[in-house]
Amino acid sequence: MTEPLLKAEELEIRFGGVIAADDVNIEIFEGGKLAIIGPNGAGKTTFLNICTGYVKPSRGHVSFRGRDITHLSPRQITRLGVARAFQIPQLFAEHTALENLLIAAAARERRWTSFTGLSRIPERDEMEDLLQQVGCGDLAHRRVNELPEGSRKLIDIAVALALKPTLLLLDEPTSGVASSEKFQIMDIIAKALDQAHVTTVFVEHDMMIVKRYADQVAVWNAGQIQLSGTPAEVLEHPDVIRDVIGEET
Ligand SMILES: Nc1ncnc2c1ncn2[C@@H]1O[C@H](COP(=O)(O)OP(=O)(O)OP(=O)(O)O)[C@@H](O)[C@H]1O
Ligand SMILES: [Mg+2]
Repeated sequence: MTEPLLKAEELEIRFGGVIAADDVNIEIFEGGKLAIIGPNGAGKTTFLNICTGYVKPSRGHVSFRGRDITHLSPRQITRLGVARAFQIPQLFAEHTALENLLIAAAARERRWTSFTGLSRIPERDEMEDLLQQVGCGDLAHRRVNELPEGSRKLIDIAVALALKPTLLLLDEPTSGVASSEKFQIMDIIAKALDQAHVTTVFVEHDMMIVKRYADQVAVWNAGQIQLSGTPAEVLEHPDVIRDVIGEET
């Protein structure tokens, strides 16, 4: 049997009286897109935080390609091939889209550079191509804080892809984007992910997006995985309709 790319075992974490992970167990295999759904406060972001080293569980383990990464730093985990985009894009807002990608490329190559040194970076063409792939080629020289949220989301994902990850974790890639633009943005993201051959986990509240783009779905509820399966199996399930879909409207 093939080994999972990422495996979480018995994860547990409390914040005060809130239990954000309560015996979370999941195996994520290479290829495809897994959607994580569930009500607000269910522990979806906490799971991504544990997998990327931002939160340390009080119990349990995460392994990536068979290696225990539970106690590694976010930077060490990124170097192993797990990248992340946040619920709110974490970009250098005063700098251009291309500069943000060049900084990521320099970090990937372990070359520390100042923003003024960016013009000489050898990955410039590669990063310009990546911006094209996420439909933001014409925004390369625009400052990030002048751009709409949808473009910032796409640039944030391009920054994550610049690290050439094996596994990419996206926290609500379409949140903050107008409903009319969500499919357009997800089409671009899905195409870029397929082109990069990156296994993806994405947290999503919009069930139409889940239905169209996910191969597998895991349902979080009160720090636990309530159910998992294909979108057809999960989205029609009465518990999910009651606890998740009913809550989203
Ligand atoms: N660093 C923290 N300190 C205190 N409480 C936290 C912290 N991180 C998460 N929590 C709490 O843990 C619970 C789970 O939070 P989490 O952010 O994982 O939920 P979520 O499923 O991502 O929700 P949403 O859909 O609203 O983004 C919430 O009650 C949250 O307030
Ligand atoms: Mg969240």
